[in-house]
Formats: sequence, structure tokens, C-alpha cells
Amino acid sequence: MTKAYERLLKCYQCFKDKINFKPEVALVLGSGLGDYADTIRVEAVLDYHDIEGFPVSTVSGHKGRFVFGYVGDVPVVIMQGRVHYYEGYSMEDVVLPTRLMKMMGARVLFLTNASGSVNYDYKAGDFMMITDQISNFVPSPLIGPNEEMLGERFSDMSEIYRKDLCEIIRGAAQIPLQEGTYIQLSGPNFETPHEVKMCRILGGDAVGMSTACEAIAANHMGMKVCGISCISNLGCGMTDQPLSAEEVKETADRVAPLFKQLITESIVRIGKMI
Ligand code: HPA
Repeated sequence: MTKAYERLLKCYQCFKDKINFKPEVALVLGSGLGDYADTIRVEAVLDYHDIEGFPVSTVSGHKGRFVFGYVGDVPVVIMQGRVHYYEGYSMEDVVLPTRLMKMMGARVLFLTNASGSVNYDYKAGDFMMITDQISNFVPSPLIGPNEEMLGERFSDMSEIYRKDLCEIIRGAAQIPLQEGTYIQLSGPNFETPHEVKMCRILGGDAVGMSTACEAIAANHMGMKVCGISCISNLGCGMTDQPLSAEEVKETADRVAPLFKQLITESIVRIGKMI
């Protein structure tokens, strides 16, 4: 058994000792969405601090807990606060929560985030359904001894964001939805204008500092993945204004009510499919 898996089993045991709940959908909340978890029918809460060996986020404003409950009739586990590679965690740490949510029973992973557009057709406040990703600027979370209990050594990534889930989200959206490719860079600095240009040339539409690594770990384990990104700003150099974390937060907060509606409607419909 790999060390990573041993650690995961310990975290799972901690969860089992405290919580009696089997989620079907795992939802990761990005910037601006933190309080979504307070709007659902909550059954239980588990602070990351109370899980032995669990990585705890250092980002201010991120709560750091699992919320268990129901969106409509669908049992969900929500990550209120994720850990990021730029905080200094290893990729094993970053994807441990994703793996744990699979062990809890979740078959679908619903990823959300805020990102910068590198596509001139997008504007701040748009939503982009993620249809594919580029993750090569950060290490793969699958590097290291493969844990066969989780998945294969050489894992297929031809359809990380499942077409059937994308179709459900399209149907659920009552607002125009962009569709595109998400590029994960390490951060924590925002990109230079030429890095934004590079992302565009490579075929990216939005750039951010999370998500793709979690999607790889989930796909490796056979979870069905979908994701929506809130375009919080245009990439650096696409306007003549410098970029700030305040701008990202302001946009993410402004469109959060629409984002929450879209997530709820999507999960209710996904629940009917699984
Ligand atoms: N770049 C990287 N990550 C981000 C951005 C951006 O422009 N906006 C929100 N997250």
C-alpha cells in the first residue's frame, strides 16, 4: 500500500467515526461561492482541522470544512475551502480531499472556481462550462508510486469533463454559458501579458490556479467530473488596467447569486441521472 493511500485511509476512518452520510455528488466551491453551503439543507459539518492528516487551507476567507446535506433530494458533500498548490502544499495534499470525497461515496465531482479570461470573446461576469483542460504547468497529482486501489498507472484523460454532465449543465443554464478549456498555472502571482498570450495560443480560454489537478485525480479514480468557472476578469494585458485580487473578488461576489442558481439546478438534474 502506498503512503498516500495509507494516509487517505486514516482520513476516511476519521470521517467514518464522526459522520454517517453517503454523498453522491461532491461539490468544490470556488471564490465568491463560500456561503453556498449555508443555503442547502445541512445534515452535518466536519472541519478540516478535525480530520487527522488533512491539509488545512491558509487562504484568508476560506472556511475549511466539509458540509454534508441535500441539494433538492441529492445527497452532497461540499468543500467549503480548497487547498491550493501555491500555498506550498504538495500535489498529494492538494488532491487528498478529492480522493476522500470519492471514498465517502461521491460518484460525481462538480468543480467551481474563479478564473481570468484569455479569450477576447468573454467578459468579466461570464460563466464558462469547462469542456477540457491543460494542466502541464503544474506537476501531475499522479506522479509517484501508483496506488492500484485508486486507479491505473497510465490513466486515460480523453473525456475528463463528461459529455453527459456537460449536456445536463447546458440544459440547466438559464443564462448564456461560455464553453471552453481551462488552463491551470501554479500562481500565486497573476500572469504576465505574454503568459496570457501563451495560454491563448495553446488553446486555453480561461486561466486559474486550481481545478485541473483535482479533475485529474478524480478522473483517475473513475469519478465523473464537471466544472464551471466564473470569469472574474480579463487576463492580464487584455485591458490597460493592472489586475488585483479585489477585482476578482468583486466580480465573483457580484455574480454569485446567478452562479448558485446554476449549480443548484445542475445538481438537481445530475441527481436524476445517477
Ligand atoms: N489568473 C489566474 N487566476 C485567476 C485569475 C487570473 O487572471 N482570475 C481569477 N483567478
